[in-house]
Amino acid sequence: MSNWTPDSWRQFPIQQQPNYKDQTLLHNVEEQIHSFPPLVFAEETRDLRKQLGDVAEGRGFLLQGGDCAESFSDFNAANIRDTFKVMLQMAVVLTFGGKVPVTKIARVAGQYAKPRSADLETIDGVSFPSYRGDIVNSFEFNEQAREPDPNRLVTAYHHSASTLNLLRAFAQGGLADLHQVNRWNMSFVASNPNRERYQHLADRIKETLEFMKVIGLTSETTPVIKETQLFTSHEALLLNYEQALTRRDHLTGKWYDCSAHMVWIGERTRQLDHAHIEFFKGINNPIGVKVGPGMDPDELIKLIDTLNPNNEPGRLTLITRMGANVLEGKLPALVRKVKEEGRHVVWSSDPMHGNTIKASNGYKTRNFDSVLKEIQQFFAVHKAEGTWAGGVHFEMTGQHVTECTGGAYGLSEADLSQRYKTQCDPRLNADQVQELAFLITDALKFAK
Ligand code: PEP
Ligand code: CO
Repeated sequence: MSNWTPDSWRQFPIQQQPNYKDQTLLHNVEEQIHSFPPLVFAEETRDLRKQLGDVAEGRGFLLQGGDCAESFSDFNAANIRDTFKVMLQMAVVLTFGGKVPVTKIARVAGQYAKPRSADLETIDGVSFPSYRGDIVNSFEFNEQAREPDPNRLVTAYHHSASTLNLLRAFAQGGLADLHQVNRWNMSFVASNPNRERYQHLADRIKETLEFMKVIGLTSETTPVIKETQLFTSHEALLLNYEQALTRRDHLTGKWYDCSAHMVWIGERTRQLDHAHIEFFKGINNPIGVKVGPGMDPDELIKLIDTLNPNNEPGRLTLITRMGANVLEGKLPALVRKVKEEGRHVVWSSDPMHGNTIKASNGYKTRNFDSVLKEIQQFFAVHKAEGTWAGGVHFEMTGQHVTECTGGAYGLSEADLSQRYKTQCDPRLNADQVQELAFLITDALKFAK
């Protein structure tokens, strides 16, 4: 590690970066962000790393979720509140149903950059650079909108800072009160077509809270009932932005990427001899890496040893994204190898990115049953291998969008056009994701 510096990644090949025309402006923007305050503190990331250490050892569960990509136009208090609410609702259900502490990490306050399968997008014979997320360019399809603009890095920083500010206020200021969260859960259950299936669990949570009140455990007497911790995360794709927010911690002398508590490497940028791996080697945050169906067991061990050479539980989360029909065939060999070699990792399931399909009417979508199937298979594989299915990773929103088909309300392909809002991948809506939380508790009970 002796020759690692926050900019040593610049000597390595790199994928998925925008081509900026004005390099002087880009350089000035990087300098400017470097002078800004960090968004998170090293101590918070150490706290998360400790919690994830417990998850790696089977003493906790990770819930990670949020937008595929945040957007500047959807940046408002209602959206932030709804993401916060739905994460909390799910966490209460999972904690109670699964009887495990749940660590909550949102894809928020920085999830602005997207990897794309092609550099150019072509419509009716006209080509412009692909949309790479609001931190890079704009979604509209014209030359000016698609030109990467360095100033967007600064806007993304400020949006992330305000988002975090509101999330911290919600977490400490009463919105996270368990009684309140459970009231939202009760109303979800009351209006859900599969009500009977979920009623029992919701009633038990309600009764438990009533019992606690009788013996004097209220929000006033017991602050943990009204406060929570919601960590932030994003795919650290634009390494110049991440570098500008990488700071040396005064207490420990170690480097931290202070753009978020946790950052991850996407499936398309995890080549062992490339820039993203180099950058991630030197930061001390808890980190994730996406693991697709092409991974083989020996390569996975090399990846683990590169990113977590001291084999510390909590440092590394493997986020598998295989596809509902593929996972069963691919995951066992990986899990077995990691177990045999004694490596400590958190295993988390992203049941979204392997299950994206095109609907017959052209919409990019995902089906609720495929998502559920991949999660159930993920739990089944870990049960069979004697390892801990440590977490789930969703693309979701607290809004009532129509982007994924299925779920209790039986959204069909024809319904997709009603409220299809995503600029990127289709997200589970508030009802679908809440329903999954209830269904995952069955798998969690069975896992232990
Ligand atoms: C994502 O999580 O938004 C993403 C692009 O995933 P992946 O790298 O697994 O394709
Ligand atoms: Co996505």
